[in-house]
Amino acid sequence: MWLSVDEYYNKINSDSRKYFELNDRILEINSDILPLDFGELFENPNKKIKFEIGFGNGDSLIKLALKNPDINYFGIDRKMDRIRIALKKLNKIDKVKNLIIARSGTEYLDKIIDPGAFDEIIMNFPDPWPKKRHHKNRTLNSEFIRVLHDLLKKGGMFRFASDHEEYSLEILDIFLKSALFENAYPEDYKNEVRDRIETQFERHKKKDGCKIYYMKFRKI
Ligand SMILES: C[S@@+](CC[C@H](N)C(=O)[O-])C[C@H]1O[C@@H](n2cnc3c(N)ncnc32)[C@H](O)[C@@H]1O
Repeated sequence: MWLSVDEYYNKINSDSRKYFELNDRILEINSDILPLDFGELFENPNKKIKFEIGFGNGDSLIKLALKNPDINYFGIDRKMDRIRIALKKLNKIDKVKNLIIARSGTEYLDKIIDPGAFDEIIMNFPDPWPKKRHHKNRTLNSEFIRVLHDLLKKGGMFRFASDHEEYSLEILDIFLKSALFENAYPEDYKNEVRDRIETQFERHKKKDGCKIYYMKFRKI
């Protein structure tokens, strides 16, 4: 990377401050609190912690946290406008004690979070960058699954959902060939998952008649 972890978060935090109120509904990541100590950050006795990368407008993450008060949720998104929408929602309700959101990309995850921190990592509808020349921009790829593997506890799960067939099948192939994960579904993927809290993208894509690919992989 071309920036140090300090420079990266200083930039993000000063940009964010121009556009929305950084309050106690959002964690401001800076070098004073690294690596993040979730035991201290969540003021509750919950043992399980799930991590969502790219939560978008935060709709489904907030609903998940409210539905499961005995599980802690940590979510990041790198886009200012998404964070602003999620914060607006959070500012209207009582503090959700088992939810922490932060503005961050995935570039420095290994520097800000200790290995083995999470029981589950979720990526819903990660940007597919459909054009071949843009594939290099995809966050989830054969290198990133090493990061996911490090961040998960032993036996921890990675969940993926996407409407983009080519990207989904590529992800399936990467995981099936990897010695780091095993498929947690008996089939390659599901096109329906019962009792799922849908994300904003999921609702839109389903309304448009798109087939959705749901996958779940267990850390070996
Ligand atoms: C297509 S949207 C899906 C949003 C949400 N998960 C949903 O299903 O409605 C992808 C989201 O991932 C975020 N994102 C993409 N790459 C990211 C990265 N490397 N780190 C953090 N967020 C990322 C984008 O800002 C965007 O909000």
